[in-house]
Amino acid sequence: MNEIVLDRVFETGNFRTRLFGTAETRQSSTFYGYTLTLIAIGLGWLLRGYELIDPKDGLGYWLGIIGGSMMLILILYPLRKRIRALRFLGRTAHWFQIHIVLGVLGPVLVLYHSNFSLGSFNSQVALYCMLAVAVSGVIGKYLYAHIHNGLYGGKASLKDLRDNLAESLENSHGLATLLPRFTSKLEALAAEAQGCSITGKLSMRVSLSWSLRKYAIWISLSRAAHRELQAHAVASPAVARDFDKLKKATSTYIRNFVQLTTRVAQFTLFERLSSLWHVLHMPLFLMMVISALLHVLAVHMY
Ligand code: HEM
Ligand code: HEM
Repeated sequence: MNEIVLDRVFETGNFRTRLFGTAETRQSSTFYGYTLTLIAIGLGWLLRGYELIDPKDGLGYWLGIIGGSMMLILILYPLRKRIRALRFLGRTAHWFQIHIVLGVLGPVLVLYHSNFSLGSFNSQVALYCMLAVAVSGVIGKYLYAHIHNGLYGGKASLKDLRDNLAESLENSHGLATLLPRFTSKLEALAAEAQGCSITGKLSMRVSLSWSLRKYAIWISLSRAAHRELQAHAVASPAVARDFDKLKKATSTYIRNFVQLTTRVAQFTLFERLSSLWHVLHMPLFLMMVISALLHVLAVHMY
């Protein structure tokens, strides 16, 4: 029986990979990208005293032009997304990738262009606006990832996530046989995370409170499963023999389950935050465009 139980529980690993991608694909490029960016900024900051770069001249001037142009090109992403006539430019997902790379690289080159100094008032305004848009972009990406299937996938719907949760519970039949009390706890939590069964909505209050309770839920589920498994191990030599394997499989299932229920429960919260972010991001972006144009005009006029 234990083999069957384990097979079924381990199946959830594939399910998780299908839903979230592997940890490596999700995190490696982002992690290395941000690390390299921070190193580049740190290095430029440390070297600023040597005045190797002059914004008025040569490399420094060109870095301003190249960085500024990158920020112009990245606008093709929202344009491609909104304007059907621009379909010839290729997939939106690719443009989103380009948007993020240029959105980080462009500001870094402009920081080098300014040699990490603020200069005149118009330069300062352009710099602060640019930094605000780039930081806002990073925050937007974090919110975006919560309501999309992976960063470059389509928008997830609450219904899809709920279906995935139902599938996950079904895959846990092995656990249901072995740990019935623990499984009923899982089912109660899944029902809570799914919100109102009639309206299909989850209130902001529940969404928010789930975010705060996520780790407490994780710990309490792990404890409940461990206790029940230990009780079985005392009664059954077969369970006692496979205790470690079963414990590991149960922990894996709990981790996947908590991640999935959290995604379902937080969907409302992140959808709201994401629409709020869009409202704030656009004016910041427009301010950046205007201030950068004024900066370019000013530095050539005076
Ligand atoms: C968003 C884009 C840009 C930002 C945020 C920005 C920012 C800055 C900053 C902070 C400085 C002051 C550096 C200092 O005085 O030490 C500066 C200087 C300068 N920038 Fe930019 N820049 C941008 C784009 C450009 C572009 C595209 C050009 C050229 C076409 C340009 C040309 C210059 C020049 C000539 C100076 C020297 C001004 C002076 O010393 O009087 N900048 N920039
Ligand atoms: C100075 C650099 C940047 C500029 C000028 C810029 C500009 C924009 C603009 C105009 C939009 C469209 C907003 C809308 O549709 O309401 C946008 C969306 C977005 N940007 Fe950026 N961005 C920059 C940097 C970044 C960075 C560094 C990231 C991530 C690391 C990023 C992530 C995003 C995300 C996630 C969206 C929303 C995508 C969507 O809902 O389809 N941006 N950005």
